[in-house]
Amino acid sequence: ASLELGPYSHFMQKEIHEQPKALSDTIEAVLENGFAAGLFGARAAELLPQVEGVKILACGTSFYAGLTAKYWIESIAGISCDVEIASEYRYRDAFANPRHLVVTISQSGETLDTMEALKYAKELGHNMALSICNVRESAIPRASELVFYTRAGAEIGVASTKAFTTQLVGLFALAVTLGKLRGRVDAQAEHGYQEALRQLPGSVQHALNLEPQIKAWSDKFAAKQNALFLGRGLHYPIALEGALKLKEISYIHAEAYPAGELKHGPLALVDESMPVVVIAPNDALLEKVKSNMQEVRARGGELFVFADLDSHFSESDGVHVIRTPRHVGVLSAIVHTIPVQLLAYHVALARGTDVDKPRNLAKSVTVE
Ligand code: G6P
Repeated sequence: ASLELGPYSHFMQKEIHEQPKALSDTIEAVLENGFAAGLFGARAAELLPQVEGVKILACGTSFYAGLTAKYWIESIAGISCDVEIASEYRYRDAFANPRHLVVTISQSGETLDTMEALKYAKELGHNMALSICNVRESAIPRASELVFYTRAGAEIGVASTKAFTTQLVGLFALAVTLGKLRGRVDAQAEHGYQEALRQLPGSVQHALNLEPQIKAWSDKFAAKQNALFLGRGLHYPIALEGALKLKEISYIHAEAYPAGELKHGPLALVDESMPVVVIAPNDALLEKVKSNMQEVRARGGELFVFADLDSHFSESDGVHVIRTPRHVGVLSAIVHTIPVQLLAYHVALARGTDVDKPRNLAKSVTVE
């Protein structure tokens, strides 16, 4: 194993660091095709122009990729998108509109609940299904009309990392492709999206370089029982993913909230013993996030803020700040995934848990 791991201590750490490569490999496929339907398989040119809505089905980390995609699909493609946990969808009396594209997201392509949700969607009358998957010829893409393969390479750590960020690239490409088909993305906008993708691996590398600073924070978390993650807009699903990573591998109870929802419950949990991680890039919601942070600070909660260079945060008593790269615009959620992955990894290391094989969890869940 040490040969395979190279300079890294765990597969998870290695896979976190492989993200610039995994992303550029995945982006290459997108740029070669130029947001054309063909990116999603031979039948995409026939099916995608018919799409009037999107329904995403997934589990775990892949579900959070879906939640992120909802923001892109609605704003870039201008069509409605709903995102649902596969194990819920498969057992409810769902409404099916055959003009809606079913998108399943699965690293392994074998997750039973996602596979069953796809079969159920077909029984209900859906006949356009796209699989976003990392494993070629696995069960879910085989049962789908359309497919986008992420090029993350084999992912061994149970907690998903590089599969997630590459799924986001595939989903972003879907949003732009649908937007183009619907006449909402002109040549100039398309060029902007291409540039954003080209610059992404470099920004992700910059975020990886923050590892020593993030490691320095991990000791402050290692003795905690609970943690709260906050984000807004596109960064809310990233807060969810950060909380999931921390739960999965460090066994610290963590929850994520859209920061505006604090006052409706979680604020009651905040006191001196509650670390609150905030994803606070300089976007349209920054001022709102700042006032949410004051609510936390006023109750004694200790803030750990990931803010990009343009957010203009300074450290103060009980407020720790790590500066992420300059705001990268529409793909900022992908860049901000890196620090929450690294935080979970280093907290787990500090607690001495089995990072690559957390208790009670499996890499691919093929049972119910
Ligand atoms: C398991 C893994 C998670 C993963 C989830 C969905 O719970 O531990 O990391 O997100 O399954 O897996 P999939 O292969 O469908 O993406």
